[in-house]
Amino acid sequence: MAKKSPPKVTYVSMSGDPSLDPKFEAAARRFRSDAGGRHPMFIGGEKVWSSAGEFESRSPIDTSIMVGRFQIGTRSDAKAAIEAALTGFEEWRDTPWQRRVEALEEFARLVDERKFDIAAAIAYEVGKNRLEALAECWEAVDAVRYCAELMRKEEGYSTKMGEGGPGEHTTVVCKPYGAWPVISPFNFPFMLANGMALGALMTGNSVILKPTSAAPLTGLMLYAAYVDAGVPAGVVNYVTGPGGNFEDEFATNTDVAGIAFTGSRDVGMKLYRRFHAEQRYPKPMLLEMGSKNPTIVMASADVSKAVEGTVRAAFGYGGQKCSATSRLFVQESINDEFLDALGERTTKLAVGNPIEKGTFMGPLINAAAVSKFEASVAEAKRSGGRVLVGGDVMKSGSLAKGFYVSPTVITHLPLSHRLFRDELFLPIIVAGKFKTIEEAIRLANDTDYGLTAGIFTEKKSEMKEFFERIRFGVTYANRSGGSTTGAWPGAQSFTGWNASGLTGRGVGGPHYLLNFLRDQSQTVVA
Ligand code: SIN
Repeated sequence: MAKKSPPKVTYVSMSGDPSLDPKFEAAARRFRSDAGGRHPMFIGGEKVWSSAGEFESRSPIDTSIMVGRFQIGTRSDAKAAIEAALTGFEEWRDTPWQRRVEALEEFARLVDERKFDIAAAIAYEVGKNRLEALAECWEAVDAVRYCAELMRKEEGYSTKMGEGGPGEHTTVVCKPYGAWPVISPFNFPFMLANGMALGALMTGNSVILKPTSAAPLTGLMLYAAYVDAGVPAGVVNYVTGPGGNFEDEFATNTDVAGIAFTGSRDVGMKLYRRFHAEQRYPKPMLLEMGSKNPTIVMASADVSKAVEGTVRAAFGYGGQKCSATSRLFVQESINDEFLDALGERTTKLAVGNPIEKGTFMGPLINAAAVSKFEASVAEAKRSGGRVLVGGDVMKSGSLAKGFYVSPTVITHLPLSHRLFRDELFLPIIVAGKFKTIEEAIRLANDTDYGLTAGIFTEKKSEMKEFFERIRFGVTYANRSGGSTTGAWPGAQSFTGWNASGLTGRGVGGPHYLLNFLRDQSQTVVA
């Protein structure tokens, strides 16, 4: 098993370790000298080169950096991967759960060993800074440790029941479903892909891993670590290419047991409707979709703590986390003071090449995100909003070939405005003010989404009111490391309510593995 990684308080607590820097920098150099190669898909352990050609993955840091060339998988590749996963399932399902746990613990050891190379790939592929990229690896390691602990505690999810009648002995044994497509997003290309795949694999299901086309290399490194750790070929498969090429097969193929998806609300809901309409009977789905997360700052708050927590939650990874704060509500009596402090702190954030030490915020993921940023700022201004700080696309010097924008705070927009409602996935906060805690909670809850929410208050009664009334799955009070971000396996259960998610049993939490299992009640009459 991998060495214990740092305590469960996110990468914020690891930023003081100087020994990480030279190792990350050496890995970044290795990445630059090796990058740009061609990569196959892996189906049933075999390399597969697509008949439809290849696509290029380029770095958002600088688009002249070629990450690699990947296969444009087709519908028939999707079908072949499902067949391979079904064959793999037959073997994996019957493998004792203890062996499966051991294989995944070996995976965690390999991730720990490879973490600098994986982090360099994440940084180049999706533009995370070095600590955010390393945190994905530490988090994947801790996720394995936590899930392994759960499997042992629950004895592979097998429970002796009471006697139903004379001589009746019943055990409820939880069993896996079968082959699962796992569709992962760009923003946590290693950790979130692993979160879903690990849940499926540890419980005896097989996986067709379909990483986002924005981060296929990180997905490949994840696949390689599973296979090198002893997860058999076919139990995990790796396919790449535009999601549309796979969706038809994933939704309609009756050999698919369930689908695990993390991504946007639009794509998730489309898949949800199709999967349930096309299959002959109900099948499980895991959906983690976006959000529009609020941070509430009460007049009683410790202002410096609240500023730090808001800035980290809103601008960490450029606001491109499902958990990012994008709506800020400040109690009227401290509104001006708080916004001054927030603006000042925001302008001090280091924006630039995330490979460089000290960078806080790197580029956005692609040109479309930059256009959305420009359009959102322009819309805010047209609607009477004021740009307190930021609002700029950054194109000078070494940033010219990447997708850089400045962290932005917008005030004076009507609270009913679209920008308070729609998810942007950008480093933009819209800020409004309120009079009472009741009003703050009503504003915070005024959304279809329900992933993360935070409050800063020094009053117990306000905290109590917040936790009782807030309608979000992951909630925090007074968290300066990130008012709405930074959930960690074994410390938080990361689940979205309403439009943010489906199952209500969050990744990293005590009930997550049950998403991939179904009860079988076994009664023997002696
Ligand atoms: C996420 O946003 O998807 C990751 C977890 C977090 O920041 O809490």
